[in-house]
Amino acid sequence: MVRMEHLVINGGRKLSGILEIKSAKNSVLPIIACCIMSKEDILIKNSPKISDVNNMLNIIRSIGGKAKFDGNDVYINCREVNPVLVDSNLTGGIRSSIFILGPILGRFRRARISYPGGCDIGLRPIDLHISGLKTLNVDVSEQSGMIVCDGGNLSGGVVNLDFPSVGATENLMMAGVLTKGRTVIRNAAREPEIIDLQNFINFLGGNVAGAGSDTIVVNGVGKLGGGAYNPVSDRIVAGTYLAACAAAGGDVTLTNVKPNTFYSVIEKFARAGFSLKETNSSVRIIASTRPKAIRKIETQPFPGFPTDMQAQMTALLSLADGSSIMVENLFESRFKYTMQLIKMGADITVKDRVAMIKGVKELSPAVLRADDLRGGAALVIAALSAKGVSEIDGLHHIDRGYCKIEDDLKSLGADIVRK
Ligand code: UD1
Repeated sequence: MVRMEHLVINGGRKLSGILEIKSAKNSVLPIIACCIMSKEDILIKNSPKISDVNNMLNIIRSIGGKAKFDGNDVYINCREVNPVLVDSNLTGGIRSSIFILGPILGRFRRARISYPGGCDIGLRPIDLHISGLKTLNVDVSEQSGMIVCDGGNLSGGVVNLDFPSVGATENLMMAGVLTKGRTVIRNAAREPEIIDLQNFINFLGGNVAGAGSDTIVVNGVGKLGGGAYNPVSDRIVAGTYLAACAAAGGDVTLTNVKPNTFYSVIEKFARAGFSLKETNSSVRIIASTRPKAIRKIETQPFPGFPTDMQAQMTALLSLADGSSIMVENLFESRFKYTMQLIKMGADITVKDRVAMIKGVKELSPAVLRADDLRGGAALVIAALSAKGVSEIDGLHHIDRGYCKIEDDLKSLGADIVRK
């Protein structure tokens, strides 16, 4: 059998240098979907060339829209979109394909999509998206595994989310943009990417307020325009590279980052004993010591510690002087990668949603397999710290969220190649 692409990392080298961070995957994906509601040309600046973005662009193309990368900018025009064309082979591939539901309903008042796919990190239902749409008078049914929505009576209304789901908040916001009246979302998620989606919608001529708080108000407008928009930078990619430097040692400055979008992460590195320097648009980490243990970290919706940094932080704490506890509150099976860290000599015990991490002095190189996106990033961090050659398979998971991770890390002095 031919081996798929994998990473070969000769670990134990310190990282140093300056790296610019691109726009956030979790901002660019809903923004691409939102473009469905405009008939004008839109340019999304500084987008990461990752497979999740490419898949979303394929979905746009498959329904008759124009979408292409021009350098790192994405050009989109959805004038000719036909919602009947949605291809279930494409939408089944990524979780974020669910984002097209709100915009398609908003513009065409009907939608038919398959259940979305995505990372295998546990059950990821879409009941909150569906019940929210029902509250806005959308008639939702399931036909042969497809979600069929009739939005003939779509109207404003008040949706109280049982949980501040990021995706449901964004979908409902978008459903309200071209809908007469006022759509109110209570117990909304407060992630920076939601503020960014609000900014994007308003930039196109929409009328959304309140993102970043727990109540979002969307006043329907007649149409959206176009233009060039620069989405917020990727706080999770930034956090990943800070963790890589902390684990391998060194001195790294990340530019085009917004520290106020991930204070809960930056603060953990400080607690682990690293020196951090921030400006409004950069973060520098200086790592010259072994990490200190952190008694307990729990993942929470924003502004709490993000679940998307859980694996990378666990990899770092596996090297800490002392014991730490990581509690995963958002997704039920997000500790799979710990089996791979244990192969490298990490001392981690997982019970349900809790990982007990007893720090070891160093990890050993190993042949590893990424099973999901952030778990894969955690393995890269561990391999960068371990003296000797590690190999990481399952690269397609990492490529979903990191654009050529080997190039970024090579530019910081890592010995890493894709084979
Ligand atoms: C988004 C992010 C993902 C991140 C997650 C949590 C994008 C493209 N992805 O995913 O990287 O890990 O937020 O910060 O932005 N839930 C339900 N019913 C629903 C929807 C969600 O029970 O209808 C549950 C989920 O199973 C999960 C929790 O709510 O346990 C959080 O999910 P949600 O905030 O919706 O995450 P996503 O939008 O899928």
